[in-house]
Amino acid sequence: MIDIHTHILHGLDDGPGSLEQSLEMARMAVSNGISTVFATPHHRTSRYYTPSADIEEAVAGLNESLLEHGIPLHVKSGQEIRVTPNLINDWYEDTLLTLGGTRYLLIECPAYSLPAELAEICHECSVLGLVPVIAHPERNAEVAGDPDKLLQLAEWGAVFQLTSDSILGTFGSKVQSLAFELCSRRLIHLVASDAHDLVRRPFRLSEAYEKIEAKIGGDYAEYCRRNAIRVANDLALEKREPVAGRPRRIFAMFR
Ligand SMILES: [Fe+2]
Repeated sequence: MIDIHTHILHGLDDGPGSLEQSLEMARMAVSNGISTVFATPHHRTSRYYTPSADIEEAVAGLNESLLEHGIPLHVKSGQEIRVTPNLINDWYEDTLLTLGGTRYLLIECPAYSLPAELAEICHECSVLGLVPVIAHPERNAEVAGDPDKLLQLAEWGAVFQLTSDSILGTFGSKVQSLAFELCSRRLIHLVASDAHDLVRRPFRLSEAYEKIEAKIGGDYAEYCRRNAIRVANDLALEKREPVAGRPRRIFAMFR
């Protein structure tokens, strides 16, 4: 499996604190069935500023250590970029990274809102040939209030990445229900672990796919898996027509 959103590099953000912990996380990823991860440290949040050069250097160092320790995991560079009015300027100033040099840019919104500048960012991305991947929309309060807001972003070219812990219930029943709703309405294109450590936010990607298989259908899980491979190969994603309007059924029943 390919995991497009992880915090496996040490010392750059709220991921592991040491190389040993990074290596333990890598072992855990391998035992979860993952062969390639994109390292996506937070960038431009209130706590973290992690420009591309620092990440590239850390990725090269970790891949060397993985080889030395015989751990069969390949790490590619990336960045989880907080939405700010500077985002496109930052792109021109070469401080941003796409996922492994592909067209895909992993973007994080604040927890409570979908910032107004997202429209402009989606537009600029399409001009630049980039695709914004919005991280974990199921954890965003504005999306929870009105999931249809994702439809407009999808029309502007954005795609959406679900976090495995959301669908497994780690963030509570409301987030889990919204995760199921977004999958059922075909508003999720990708699933990733967003792993930060071994215990609190571990690699549970295979468990998330199993949950999607059981509750939404094996076909949808396979579609998301295929899309992760397409990201890694810089191919256009498969897209299914999203369903507008909230369904009447109560998604709590999926738990
Ligand atoms: Fe993340």
